Amino acid sequence: MRNDLVLPGAGELTYEIRNIVNVAEKLQKHGVKINWENIGDPIVKGEIIPQWMKDIVVREALNNDTYGYCHTRGVLETREFICEQTNSRGGARITPDDIIFFNGLGDAIAKVYGNLRHETRILMPSPTYTTHTLGESGHALAAPICYRLKAEDNWYPDLEDLRNHVKYNPQISGIMLINPDNPTGMVYPVETLREIVAIAKRYDLFIIADEVYNNIVYNGEKTVPISDVIGSVPAIAMKGISKELPWPGSRCGWIEVYNYGQDARFDKYVNSILTSKMNEVCSTTLPQKTIPAVMSHPEYQSYLAERISRYEKMSNITYNCLKKVPGLLVNRTNGAFYMAVAFEDGLLNNTQSLPIANTEVKALVEGLVNAPGTSPDKRFVYYILAATGICIVPLSSFATHHQGFRVTLLEKDERECERIYNTLSDKILEYLKG
Ligand SMILES: Cc1ncc(COP(=O)(O)O)c(C=O)c1O
Repeated sequence: MRNDLVLPGAGELTYEIRNIVNVAEKLQKHGVKINWENIGDPIVKGEIIPQWMKDIVVREALNNDTYGYCHTRGVLETREFICEQTNSRGGARITPDDIIFFNGLGDAIAKVYGNLRHETRILMPSPTYTTHTLGESGHALAAPICYRLKAEDNWYPDLEDLRNHVKYNPQISGIMLINPDNPTGMVYPVETLREIVAIAKRYDLFIIADEVYNNIVYNGEKTVPISDVIGSVPAIAMKGISKELPWPGSRCGWIEVYNYGQDARFDKYVNSILTSKMNEVCSTTLPQKTIPAVMSHPEYQSYLAERISRYEKMSNITYNCLKKVPGLLVNRTNGAFYMAVAFEDGLLNNTQSLPIANTEVKALVEGLVNAPGTSPDKRFVYYILAATGICIVPLSSFATHHQGFRVTLLEKDERECERIYNTLSDKILEYLKG
């Protein structure tokens, strides 16, 4: 090629959540049985969609209108339905024009950061869901700017750190939070949400709240969406059906815009997000059309409650197994279906290993972990994968300096969950000695 085609650094940011799957698939070919504790797709983990939900999808598939483009913002009846749900809480008030549908939140995330000026920065939690940091830092062509979630305190945000970033970095124009959180499973206390809103108000910032797991909370937690506490601060909430229905293959999510019309700069930004959707015409029609019927179905709430109680059980089994291991910072999760576990600083190094009986598997893994620049937790998860078949994700790939791992809580069988996390706990002890 006459010229370089890609941006400097392109391709260097890898998405470890997916990367490890490639490695696990190679190991599978060598006969290693894999437990997929890495990916947040309930369907892959055996969730069976109830017949009544499938019937709703079939009904929509038989309707001729479903095959057309829809409004750029999304199907009006669905936006009206969502609008009513949000307004009924008594917090932020929206109209159907404050909602824009996307082809999954991945699409929304790309457009929300992609429409910012390069020099305008959004403050992110650390650790955080990689799609946000990659979207924001990819657009800014700079490393993400993050506030700390406290591994030693339930992964709650360090508000002092957050406030200092905002105070001393005038490029920060927005604060992002994920509630309930991926990768930590933490649910933001309402006082913390209020404090973040107050900081945004004081420094004239807007808020991005990823609430894709908003209705998946347990251990007695209550859902507090940002719309409840936002007051007059401009904000964007992100919601979707990938995790809740769950229908990740639908590629269907939406944003709700709060306090449009109060700040000309924010309005211009929201309009530019809408324009980038307009350039694609619209998002996929069929899943949008099913939302009102699915969410108002008489069995929807009990179906969701049954799944949530399962996540609660798996969360507590996982917590009880891992908290016994000295040197691990383990927090009980209260929402979503992930747990982030950090090693105490300095516990992992680049000489630890586990015995691997199969010589081909051993050669493959050693080739990977000995590559220059491999983080100690990546080394750890690859050895765990090869020695046990348990596939987990290194925590350092979630924009954090912490070394550790993230697991999902989607195992359906309690006994299997206990077996997996007892095995993992034993192997961690062995690894730390090695
Ligand atoms: C916090 C968070 N936001 C957004 C997404 C992406 O959702 P979607 O399937 O709608 O693209 C995920 C997926 O795992 C997620 O964990």
